[in-house]
Amino acid sequence: MKTIDELLSAGVDGKRVFVRADLNVPLADGVISDDGRIRAVLPTLKALTGAGAKVVVASHLGRPKGAPDPAFSLRPAAERLGELLGAPVAFAGDTVGDAAHDAVNGLEPGQIAVIENLRFNAGETSKDDAERGEFADRLAALADVYVGDGFGAVHRKHASVYDLPARLPHYAGHLIAAEVDVLKKLTEDVRRPYAVVLGGAKVSDKLAVIDQLLGKADRLLIGGGMAYTFLKAKGYEIGSSLLQEDQIPAVIEYIERAEKIGVELVLPVDALVAPEFPDLKTKAPANPTTVAADAIPADQMGLDIGPETRKLFASKIADAATVFWNGPMGVFEHPDYAEGTKAVAQALLDSPAFTVVGGGDSAAAVRILGFDETAFGHISTGGGASLEYLEGKTLPGLAALED
Ligand code: 3PG
Repeated sequence: MKTIDELLSAGVDGKRVFVRADLNVPLADGVISDDGRIRAVLPTLKALTGAGAKVVVASHLGRPKGAPDPAFSLRPAAERLGELLGAPVAFAGDTVGDAAHDAVNGLEPGQIAVIENLRFNAGETSKDDAERGEFADRLAALADVYVGDGFGAVHRKHASVYDLPARLPHYAGHLIAAEVDVLKKLTEDVRRPYAVVLGGAKVSDKLAVIDQLLGKADRLLIGGGMAYTFLKAKGYEIGSSLLQEDQIPAVIEYIERAEKIGVELVLPVDALVAPEFPDLKTKAPANPTTVAADAIPADQMGLDIGPETRKLFASKIADAATVFWNGPMGVFEHPDYAEGTKAVAQALLDSPAFTVVGGGDSAAAVRILGFDETAFGHISTGGGASLEYLEGKTLPGLAALED
């Protein structure tokens, strides 16, 4: 994979460089609650503008349906980017139309223009190669060179991620290069004991990675909503907790396989429960109670790991040499259910292990809960992308940068 360093040493002065970033930040009513992904692409953008490139930044945001939708405009992200850079950033109100061309034509060396949400064009995510290719052709007309730096989207076979690099000289940006370096440490020559903490709502999202990790990790700690399907598979009553009944056979197979090959599968021993899901808008007190994991009352649901589980998980993280964590332990957005996720984050910080926080919700949780993100070994900007990398899948956006 050629990196941006090669591009910079060849010189980019006056060249139009298309940077595919992942500016898919959490946004509500135009307000960005976590700008981590915007900050993550700054090293690449600063290197390019510093070398005199005319930089075109493109990204998706959310999942609009292939047509313009103001709720998913990238404008707030472009504004935040300008604030972080302390320099004006032009914004084009379309992706490949007159506005995009005008914005790019108006760039002086060292300046940046952000084009509108790529997913406002159906060609971006199309399953049809020709439709994606046609959109990629139009994007290619905006630039001379391509830099892939949207790590969070490299697992998507989308026009700007997969098809566009085939049409322009292409390089990996600093973020993608750094992310791949770290993930290699988790897949090649990993330092042991290797503990993996998985959370989040759905077991089905994590099945493939659990399957892979059962052969690689020494300990697998399961929390969050997905843990209740594991508890149910063990024969416990889980009340009205989140359950993916159709996943139980797979989960039983994992529990048996873990036992057979000597992987420690650590499940919650207690939970914070309440009769209903908390109100995340008002954050009204939820008054949860703590119960043992095998004694969740029929009319209650588990919403966070309990205090004994926090201690148990912390002890399994404390003497690990490598820790990968993906997914919150509970409904951390509500203060009554944030302790489990906080405890895991704190345990990672207290551990001398090489610690990797795997993207998406867990990365946002770390920042929203007020932890110093620089204290972690690495916080990935890609949730799905880092999981698929660990699953051993070929990621289209990385493959496209390889050739
Ligand atoms: C993410 O948030 O994980 C990436 O930006 C990819 O977004 P997507 O899941 O909508 O493709």
